[in-house]
Amino acid sequence: MGLSKDASQRRPTVWVNCAASLDGRLAFAGGKRAALSCPEDLERVQRLRAGSDAILVGVGTVVQDDPSLRVHWELLGQPPGKNPTRVVVDGSGRTPANARVLDGSTPTIVATSERSTREYPPHVTRVVAGATRVDLGRLFAVLYDMGVRKLMVEGGAEILSSVLRAGLFDRFSIYYAPVVIGGATAPPVVSGPETRGSDDATTFELMGLERVGVGCLATYAPAGRRGTLPDHPGA
Ligand SMILES: NC(=O)c1ccc[n+]([C@@H]2O[C@H](COP(=O)([O-])OP(=O)(O)OC[C@H]3O[C@@H](n4cnc5c(N)ncnc54)[C@H](OP(=O)(O)O)[C@@H]3O)[C@@H](O)[C@H]2O)c1
Repeated sequence: MGLSKDASQRRPTVWVNCAASLDGRLAFAGGKRAALSCPEDLERVQRLRAGSDAILVGVGTVVQDDPSLRVHWELLGQPPGKNPTRVVVDGSGRTPANARVLDGSTPTIVATSERSTREYPPHVTRVVAGATRVDLGRLFAVLYDMGVRKLMVEGGAEILSSVLRAGLFDRFSIYYAPVVIGGATAPPVVSGPETRGSDDATTFELMGLERVGVGCLATYAPAGRRGTLPDHPGA
């Protein structure tokens, strides 16, 4: 592991990515999946996936969207290559038994908490990190120890809240599709605890802004921690 970092600092580089409507929603009413990325953005997301060692989502996304979390090599015009490891954050063991992430086609880790006794198929690696919820700082240290150096985080709203507010990331890219969703039940980009005032607010530094297809891609670093990511595919 080279120079040892303590567990609170030891983590992969983390690239958070999502697609949102102009009013900052991740999906339609009730969380129904919205295909917000245009073809150009989908290709960019596949490049990010292909260059990552692992892709992480929360169990809410697995329940709602049933993603495969595989690289769609055809969108990159490439023959199939190695797929990143899939990581599902599932503190209470509610990943559906027939979820695509459990199909055994790609290495998969389910990160859970001590409160879950759920068993998974033998090809799934179960990692316990946290008493009742998954402690993402601990999980990221475990992933680092398992060899994950580049981690992509794809959502949903609760995971984005935990990762962004704890500053457990290096880059956050958000693709804004030219559409509004509105309403009361469409999930926002970030849910989680209330922000009561500017002292509580999580701030970012803008690293890039560009037109992608019909939309707009904004990339941020944590405020005051822009660092460099020389070998990251989205950098
Ligand atoms: N547009 C996009 O780019 C995009 C990408 C992904 C998802 N989405 C949308 O996002 C929505 C799902 O978001 P969501 O907020 O319901 O679910 P989520 O963020 O995918 O998963 C949240 C769940 O993870 C578990 N969890 C355990 N430890 C956690 C921790 N430390 N921090 C956060 N979560 C933890 C909790 O369930 P337990 O308490 O049971 O452990 C929590 O309810 C769907 O509508 C999906 O379509 C959109």
